[in-house]
Amino acid sequence: MSDSTLKSRQVVLARYIHGHPSPEDFRTETIDIPAPGDGQLRVRTLYASVDPGALARLGGEASYVPPMALGDVMASAVVGEVVDSRHEQFSPGDLVVGSWGWCEVAVVGPKGLRKVEPGPEPLSAELGVFGIPGLTSYFSILELGKPRAGETVLVSSAAGAVGSVAGQIAKLQGARVVGIAGGPAKCAWVRELGFDEVLDYRAEKDLTAAIQRTCPEGVGVYLDNVGGAMLDAALLNMALRGRVVLSGLITEYGVPPEQRHGLKHTPRFITHRLRMEGFVVFDYADRFREARAALSRWVSEGKVKYREHVAEGLESAPSAFAGVFRGENLGRMLVRVGSPSRTPRAPS
Ligand SMILES: NC(=O)c1ccc[n+]([C@@H]2O[C@H](COP(=O)([O-])OP(=O)(O)OC[C@H]3O[C@@H](n4cnc5c(N)ncnc54)[C@H](OP(=O)(O)O)[C@@H]3O)[C@@H](O)[C@H]2O)c1
Repeated sequence: MSDSTLKSRQVVLARYIHGHPSPEDFRTETIDIPAPGDGQLRVRTLYASVDPGALARLGGEASYVPPMALGDVMASAVVGEVVDSRHEQFSPGDLVVGSWGWCEVAVVGPKGLRKVEPGPEPLSAELGVFGIPGLTSYFSILELGKPRAGETVLVSSAAGAVGSVAGQIAKLQGARVVGIAGGPAKCAWVRELGFDEVLDYRAEKDLTAAIQRTCPEGVGVYLDNVGGAMLDAALLNMALRGRVVLSGLITEYGVPPEQRHGLKHTPRFITHRLRMEGFVVFDYADRFREARAALSRWVSEGKVKYREHVAEGLESAPSAFAGVFRGENLGRMLVRVGSPSRTPRAPS
């Protein structure tokens, strides 16, 4: 063992998850992380993401990425600081975004790493509005939904990382935007973001009627982060030639097919000439730079606002993950794992 070995805690998958996650599905272990080899660097985690979509990989079955195995470090996007480097393009103190998961220290190669330059937004924004959720919002609205001015865009999980930014981008296209969120605090924030209407699905007895009330001219674009009964209720309210964009299905992750809600209102596809399209944001990887530049401009101009729900300490990651499925996050759910050795950015 080298003298420069560092201790690191890591959170691993302890058992396969069927249904909603609980903190007991994970285990924290402490391991030794050796010095980096040739072409590698050693990184210290500052923030790690908490992604509901990861649940689709935790039941032992394949998603669009391979399933995780028992004992694997929980997958996540990460922003961290280079501790030591044996790669010519990285130096100690550099800030990088990668995907080394829920751990304090890791040895990684350069593939998939992106250096982050200090800027006016906090570093954590690299995992939120400038990370996968922000990029998902950007492409789902601009490339798939393509709302026209005056059309109604309905967004589920509108107080979440993807939904909140997507709704604001749709507003920038001149659309009328309606959000669906759970609870008064989330609805109030979604209204503050400039959504034209917000409906609290937890307070509505009849979701189909509630969508009809808030979208009287029909839904031109439905950006769905939820699936299940909410998707079905939206289908019944789609306007002629409406587009359903499937970003996520949080009600269906970890649920066996026979227990899923299913779609009951498919005739609407024919009567109203609808389209429904799913997508994976990584399909647009060659345009991430363009999207980040637009998001960064909108944030600096105050046209796109965002919030982060930051849980403290690596040990809080499993309960933060379980909390997302109970709607405990307002904005992007993240875990703060460490602090940078210098202060690279102004606090939010
Ligand atoms: N296609 C892609 O490439 C891609 C990329 C990234 C993310 N995604 C997907 O985008 C979706 C949003 O991700 P995110 O990171 O922005 O998560 P998020 O919206 O910030 O958090 C999840 C939210 O889902 C809502 N929710 C949970 N259970 C629900 C239920 N039973 N019914 C209705 N709402 C429920 C909760 O909000 P309420 O309190 O309002 O219910 C919760 O806060 C996820 O489904 C994710 O998998 C897709």
